[in-house]
Amino acid sequence: MNTTEAIRDRISTRAYLDKPVSKETIIQILDVARWSPSGTNTQPWKVAVVEGTTKQAITDALLDAQKKGVKPNPDYDYYPTEWVEPFKARRFECGMALYKALEIGREDKEKRVEAALANYRFFGAPATLFFFIDKVMRQGSWFDMGMFLQSVMLAAHEQGLGSCPQASTSDYPDLVRDILGVSGDQYSLICGLSLGYPNDSHPVNQYRTSREEVDTFTTWFD
Ligand SMILES: Cc1cc2nc3c(=O)[nH]c(=O)nc-3n(C[C@H](O)[C@H](O)[C@H](O)COP(=O)(O)O)c2cc1C
Repeated sequence: MNTTEAIRDRISTRAYLDKPVSKETIIQILDVARWSPSGTNTQPWKVAVVEGTTKQAITDALLDAQKKGVKPNPDYDYYPTEWVEPFKARRFECGMALYKALEIGREDKEKRVEAALANYRFFGAPATLFFFIDKVMRQGSWFDMGMFLQSVMLAAHEQGLGSCPQASTSDYPDLVRDILGVSGDQYSLICGLSLGYPNDSHPVNQYRTSREEVDTFTTWFD
């Protein structure tokens, strides 16, 4: 697999086989990703690999908070409060494609909620990685984290694994931090990343998102 193939063929995987990922494989992935660049080589990433009963405890805590109507309080604003074009249309198209793959109709609110809650179950993945950053680090380090995240996903893809980055799993960061024993004074929770062998026959893994052409976002200057 070359770099182009790795980047172009990686997708967000939202259905997994009931097959564990070995610790050696996860170490191998992180051992590649640690070579990601970061400003002045600060390497601001902190990762928790979560499986088994701890993963289940996080799922239960997130579902319980949602059920009780607790307001999500993520450590950062991922999205704008007021959506504008062209982002609004792209986001809409992304959601619609997902619902179509899952055969969820426009009016079927219950199934939409269920689809959203699948995030808290990590889409059935046997492992999830949580990414934290020290609160002392500023905005620049957050995009170092983004690069690290992409490296993890590409290295996982090379191992035949699927992954899905999930900002939704940082809706209730204190719950996750409490279960993992991570200090809320020191660390922001960036997101989770489901990891496992993809269930290729599940329709949710068969649709593909599109991308804008290069000339829509590039300006050339002589
Ligand atoms: C930081 C980040 C957070 C994301 N959070 C979620 C999420 O909570 N749930 C989800 O289903 N997908 C999530 N996604 C996946 C995006 O929807 C997906 O990357 C995008 O639609 C493009 O599709 P692709 O990854 O298959 O190329 C996230 C992606 C990124 C980069």
